[in-house]
Amino acid sequence: MTSTTQKNPRAKVTVDLGPRSYDIFVGQGLIEEAATYVAPILKRARVAVVTDENVANHHLATLQKNFTDNGIACTPFILPAGEKTKNFDQLQNLLSGLLDAGVERGDLVIALGGGVIGDLTGFAASILRRGVDFAQIPTTLLSQVDSSVGGKTGINVPQGKNLVGAFHQPRLVLADTDALATLPERQFRAGYAEVVKYGLINDLTFFNALEADLARILEGDVTARTRAIVKSCDAKAKVVAADEHEGGVRALLNLGHTFGHALEAATGFSDRLVHGEGVSIGMVMAFDLSVRLGLCSGQDAKRAAQHLKNAGLPTRLSDVPGELPDAAGLVELMAQDKKVVDGTLTFILARGIGEAFITRNVATSDLLAFMIDQETA
Ligand SMILES: NC(=O)c1ccc[n+]([C@@H]2O[C@H](COP(=O)([O-])OP(=O)(O)OC[C@H]3O[C@@H](n4cnc5c(N)ncnc54)[C@H](O)[C@@H]3O)[C@@H](O)[C@H]2O)c1
Ligand SMILES: [Zn+2]
Repeated sequence: MTSTTQKNPRAKVTVDLGPRSYDIFVGQGLIEEAATYVAPILKRARVAVVTDENVANHHLATLQKNFTDNGIACTPFILPAGEKTKNFDQLQNLLSGLLDAGVERGDLVIALGGGVIGDLTGFAASILRRGVDFAQIPTTLLSQVDSSVGGKTGINVPQGKNLVGAFHQPRLVLADTDALATLPERQFRAGYAEVVKYGLINDLTFFNALEADLARILEGDVTARTRAIVKSCDAKAKVVAADEHEGGVRALLNLGHTFGHALEAATGFSDRLVHGEGVSIGMVMAFDLSVRLGLCSGQDAKRAAQHLKNAGLPTRLSDVPGELPDAAGLVELMAQDKKVVDGTLTFILARGIGEAFITRNVATSDLLAFMIDQETA
């Protein structure tokens, strides 16, 4: 296998997990130079690439050409786009396809796409022949800063989202910032909510930087975008290294997610509200609840909400188009979240921007009263 020369400088973040450690590369043109990074981890010169129809239209040919030019055989699998693809039927089809294509125990399966493709492909890789290697080439902002890092894989089942899955770390992540140029703006903004999340959790300096960089990030300034993605990956990598299987601090990454998931469920996981939008409203609610419980200043909560709003994200229940269940209905949906332990909801609250913490001490009566207020906010 020949190796191509590198056109652009790339940032590297290492996820430190002992023998399962891996690198995340962030920068421009990574898809067209993927072979340079992938070749060293191949046992034989072939890969399977799983993607969806949208991503295939924009980026598959570039990736395939680079592999072929470098003597790496590439078998593509193109799945329908959208959350519904993360199901048992698609998993089964993919596993059959990979087996029929002769994927062996030592082979590498590559996910080229957003979180849907990453989660499904990672899960397939975790159970195919009792586990094959996989790599992520995330193409949405959300997947570049969140889902491609940390090894959570899985599918949705009628009982709920992500309820069947496995921890299976990738061998490599290539976050190509050029891929974001074809991403619909709404998807970009939704992913940006997860970027803001890292600042809100434990990094006021990063949040300050995001406030300063927001316009550049939205306009597509590569330097500003790369900086935000690298910082986000670094933040996630640190949390994952400290708590790979979410026994403790990793739960901080769920800031805004208990509320957000309830809203996603309430809107039927439809286009009415995409994940990052739910997280945006959820984070504002987490801050508002923190204020109500006397834990956080109203000023910090306002500042967090304003930044998300400036990024074009929804921040209130009334920003969700169409009808929503009432307060009691939403609390019920929250209680179905998989983060419930012994019937007690776990919340991520904050003492300020960059000072989030995990608590199970929110009384249901307080939560309900808060939700009733939110309905009219
Ligand atoms: N594993 C984890 O740790 C983790 C973390 C967060 C979210 N997730 C999961 O991630 C999923 C959401 O991921 P997502 O927001 O990336 O959604 P997605 O994969 O559905 O992608 C969003 C849309 O953008 C399209 N798309 C992707 N890249 C594109 C590009 N470069 N140009 C044009 N179109 C493009 C897709 O086809 C899709 O229509 C959810 O299923 C969620 O559960 C997983
Ligand atoms: Zn999320």
